[in-house]
Amino acid sequence: MVKGLTLLFSKEEIAETVTGLAREISADYANKKMVLIGVLKGAFIFLADLARHLTIPVEIEFMRIASYGSQKESSGKVTVTKDVEISLEGKDVLVIEDIVDTGLSLTFLIDHLRTHNPSSLKVCALVDKKSRREVEVEVDYVGFTIDDGFIVGYGIDFNEGYRALPEIFVID
Ligand code: IMP
Ligand code: MG
Repeated sequence: MVKGLTLLFSKEEIAETVTGLAREISADYANKKMVLIGVLKGAFIFLADLARHLTIPVEIEFMRIASYGSQKESSGKVTVTKDVEISLEGKDVLVIEDIVDTGLSLTFLIDHLRTHNPSSLKVCALVDKKSRREVEVEVDYVGFTIDDGFIVGYGIDFNEGYRALPEIFVID
């Protein structure tokens, strides 16, 4: 047990949730030209686990965005720091995010990805902080919904720390 952290989701709960999402996505995207776009860095472990449970062929791509604000708050001023490097034209894109909080980052990301002309564009988030939304944005696949609290682990950081923890914790 790590000091200052309270366990929120165990390895077993995460595995069960990710497997369930993979089953649902595999059914929905059968016979499609699927591309998973992981949003770096937070979604890297989620994407890796999810992808290995899919039963359909997929392409895998990554994007990185930066938002300016304090460490725990998003400001809404977002820029692309690493764009996709493969064509998304006519493909069925599923964005893989760690957390949707205010929704500002995701709204920016969706607007940006639309310029790459995918034939469909949906979003899968491991954690949805639905009650904190500042802009309306649809999340098509949600692993966990939480009300508030700052979480870390399973790829998710605070100040670049804690990403490698296999469980998800709430930080004080
Ligand atoms: P939004 O633009 O406010 O929706 O910000 C979403 C992004 O903020 C997520 O992709 C995370 O990178 C970060 N974030 C939001 N809540 C948390 C948290 O509880 N822990 C770590 N990062 C968070
Ligand atoms: Mg993020």
